[in-house]
Amino acid sequence: MKIVLGVGAGIAAYKCCELVRLLTESGHEVRVIPTPDSLRFVGAATWAALSGQPVSASPWDDVHEVPHVRLGQAADLVFVAPATADLLARAAAGLAPDLLGNVLLTARCPVVYAPAMHTEMWQHPATVANVATLRGRGALVLEPASGRLTGSDTGPGRLPEPAELYQVARRVLARGTADLTPDLAGRRVVVSAGGTREELDPVRFIGNWSSGLQGYALARAAAARGAEVTLVAANTGLADPAGVQVVRVISAGDMHDAVVKAAAGADAVVMAAAVADYRPASRSDAKLKKADGPPDPIILTENPDILRELSATRLHPGQVVVGFAAETDDLLANGRAKLAAKGCDLLVVNRVGNGLAFGTADNEAEILAADGQRTSVPRGPKEDLAEVIWDSVAARLA
Ligand code: CTP
Repeated sequence: MKIVLGVGAGIAAYKCCELVRLLTESGHEVRVIPTPDSLRFVGAATWAALSGQPVSASPWDDVHEVPHVRLGQAADLVFVAPATADLLARAAAGLAPDLLGNVLLTARCPVVYAPAMHTEMWQHPATVANVATLRGRGALVLEPASGRLTGSDTGPGRLPEPAELYQVARRVLARGTADLTPDLAGRRVVVSAGGTREELDPVRFIGNWSSGLQGYALARAAAARGAEVTLVAANTGLADPAGVQVVRVISAGDMHDAVVKAAAGADAVVMAAAVADYRPASRSDAKLKKADGPPDPIILTENPDILRELSATRLHPGQVVVGFAAETDDLLANGRAKLAAKGCDLLVVNRVGNGLAFGTADNEAEILAADGQRTSVPRGPKEDLAEVIWDSVAARLA
């Protein structure tokens, strides 16, 4: 697909370097159109090298190719990030002082704005009115994330992380802006992510390879679809998704307590975390020393099975419970047996090992339902699998 990335003159322009990489690596042709002032933050050479495409901020370059009309007409998506207060005002007024302004007037594809500015600017009545105007014309204007802004102030105005912008771009390309109704609005959901660690002593643990990428993609997708999301994250190095409440845990026991607490009153719980089935029966308070010789055989004791407990107790009427199964062999047979044993509504079965699933950007899965339905999701970004899982959950909630 052809994507125009319009870059406004905000310091958050640097985050869009990663966005270009994510979009090009997933096979899209990205044409970066910076505003002239944004080149003070990130230069044209960076955009050209990352996108592999020519970069210009002015409609007066390559005039014979009529870029001010052609680029907008040919685009499948125009994504503006960071959208400054000034850029939003110009877009709302239909001004075209630069190439991006022209492209915004000629594009007939979905247009997404990702605003980033100081809180006062975002909340100024002029900006509020401009955002309403653009939304009224069918553009998708994202809510900025809250947090640390340039300088020492904090508040709403941050550009969401590149992975979040990427997920929005993928959703809009797949569904268009008209079909972005927040179908999980008013719903509370809980997602677990990452891999639990069971301590042997203050420096060592038994763990697993889960990166948390799939769980974070699920949390971001649910937030984008309007849900109030609690993400229980075990040992991930990933940035908190915008608009998501993140609870950090270490062990399976911690995760049990955090998930059960958040699941009370939740419409859906998705257990994407890799939870240790067993933990060492005892933990040494002092570091185990090599000089003391190899430790005695490590005695393991069973952890609570959170998914099974949630499925059996259903902490909220009509709650949809979703499990994951990471399997190396006999995916469907093992998956069906696990779905029955755990008692959940949906089980997402994916193949692991030999470079698949753990830590990768891609996943493929079979979604098995207790009512016998089966959905095959071909290999693709974890964001896509996340959307299909929420489609299945939303259908069951409705
Ligand atoms: N799970 C859980 N609590 C545990 C272990 C697992 O909630 N103590 C959840 C995981 O989050 C996942 C699902 O159960 O959603 C499947 O986990 P898995 O470890 O594959 O299942 P097991 O029953 O442990 O089966 P296996 O024999 O394959 O280890």
